[in-house]
Amino acid sequence: MIPFNKPFLTGKEAHYMYDAVHTGKLSGNGKYTQKCQKWFEETYGFGKCLLTTSCTDALEMAAILIDIQPGDEVILPSYTFVSTANAFVLRGAKLVFADSRKDHPGIDESSIEALITPKTKAIVPVHYAGVACDMDIIMDIAQKYGLFVVEDAAQAIDSYYIGRDGVKRALGSIGHLAAFSFHETKNIISGEGGMLAINDLQFAKRAEIIWEKGTNRSSFFRGEVDKYGWVDVGSSFLPSEVIAAFLWAQFENIQDIQKRRCTIWNTYYNELTSWAEKHEIRMPFVPDFASNNAHMFYLVCKDVEQRTRLIDRLKSNSILAVFHYISLHKSPFYEGKHDGRNLPESDRYTDCLVRLPMYYDLEQEQQELIIKVLLDEK
Ligand SMILES: Cc1ncc(COP(=O)(O)O)c(C=O)c1O
Repeated sequence: MIPFNKPFLTGKEAHYMYDAVHTGKLSGNGKYTQKCQKWFEETYGFGKCLLTTSCTDALEMAAILIDIQPGDEVILPSYTFVSTANAFVLRGAKLVFADSRKDHPGIDESSIEALITPKTKAIVPVHYAGVACDMDIIMDIAQKYGLFVVEDAAQAIDSYYIGRDGVKRALGSIGHLAAFSFHETKNIISGEGGMLAINDLQFAKRAEIIWEKGTNRSSFFRGEVDKYGWVDVGSSFLPSEVIAAFLWAQFENIQDIQKRRCTIWNTYYNELTSWAEKHEIRMPFVPDFASNNAHMFYLVCKDVEQRTRLIDRLKSNSILAVFHYISLHKSPFYEGKHDGRNLPESDRYTDCLVRLPMYYDLEQEQQELIIKVLLDEK
């Protein structure tokens, strides 16, 4: 079977984990956590970075930091993972779902302004497949209405947005806050794992407290206070040093990982373009303002029947291709709370999008087989 995903190991993970174990510091916020955080800040220009145990946790921290209160409204795409939504629902927010773009599963930026009410507190764009949302439009709206922007950059490591001013900025460095995932399906992994980027530094001090169970333990270890205690709400959002050590081995190889993934992505793109056109299947779209981190290779079929046929045919050739999210406004949990608006693009991606196997160790012959099976569709 050719799996949909296979976690990639650089070979140095065990070495750094062994080192972490032998330094005798296994809990969080030690040498490897700090190395990873510094690397992120310096490589991508993020404000302050805090590793978390998942992107889900980073989003939950963001919701606490922007002080979401019951009844506050948060605008987000319906076509996203549950964690984008749950983080805000946990604090009592009302979700206001936006539709996706026609040419891309990301949020339709042109639909956002009409969704704003006096209760709106935040916009949460999701950089689907690591491809940027149009952040100039989103940041302008946020500034006009005094809203926070939390980038869900779960899939967006090492990807960029080119703004109107021509400046290329890393995804996750633009919103007030941004959340990344290092789940084993992502480009850079630690099994489970994540990170919060705090670009609006007014949140930096409190973020550290929330991260450390609501205590000022980090300040204490820096010698800034002579004892530490409970000063705010919080939880245990920080990962152990063993996880951070694993992650460090991945960061060291990021250029190699990205290069390999881009080669695989480009091969799919070049080999499948004319076949897709013939079958009215849409190829992944990368707008001029976005870069491509080759996180995902997806196709948008013309209807659900065509998608089912493709998935079945791949499966009968021992190839696992999978669809993705189910519109959250139609989920059993939120359907009854949704305001009833139709979100046709979100539904179309729910029914028609399929993802092909995409991972570092995908061999050339395996990829040739996947392409051949697809091209055989007459
Ligand atoms: C858009 C998006 N946000 C959040 C998450 C949650 O990430 P994690 O599994 O690290 O909590 C995912 C997971 O794939 C995701 O795709």
